[in-house]
Amino acid sequence: MKNIVLTGFMGTGKTEVGRELAKITGLKFVDIDSEIEKAEAMTVAEIFRRFGEQRFRAAETEMIERISRQQNVIISTGGGAVMRQRNMDVLKKTGIVVCLTATPETILRRTSGTNERPLLQVENPLDKIRELLMLRMHFYALSDIVIDTEEKTPLRVAEEIVDKIRHLDAGEI
Ligand code: S3P
Repeated sequence: MKNIVLTGFMGTGKTEVGRELAKITGLKFVDIDSEIEKAEAMTVAEIFRRFGEQRFRAAETEMIERISRQQNVIISTGGGAVMRQRNMDVLKKTGIVVCLTATPETILRRTSGTNERPLLQVENPLDKIRELLMLRMHFYALSDIVIDTEEKTPLRVAEEIVDKIRHLDAGEI
């Protein structure tokens, strides 16, 4: 069976939905950012602060390649992973890529209250969210399945994903 890969902007619920999906399907859940943090013994915010975004992106690509060698896993990726063609190629080769979406306002609400996300530590995070969404929109659209998470619980989103995958030729869950 192919992996299930969750992508989408920060705050679209990839981690929570991934955990629900793991419960429903019995598959293992792997979060790329958490794996990077374990491997580097540092938080993502710390990697950005000490070494810059480029170093984080390199670690991200390396981890995506490593985790994609596994089968039957649910992989949650960081919101910027789609920007590198190489990441998408690797993820698509072994997995069904599912993109979660939400409005900029919902993203702001879900991401405020934590300073874990270095890209949103700016004076006007809503403007930054809109700007990054514009830049990334067409990369997210390359996913196999796109699901709106607005006003839905992570469980409901996970159930929708299972349903959609069952309707795809490639899906056998
Ligand atoms: C990023 C998203 C974050 C994390 C890093 C960069 C991005 O992951 O990878 O802060 O570029 O959108 P989440 O989408 O899980 O918050």
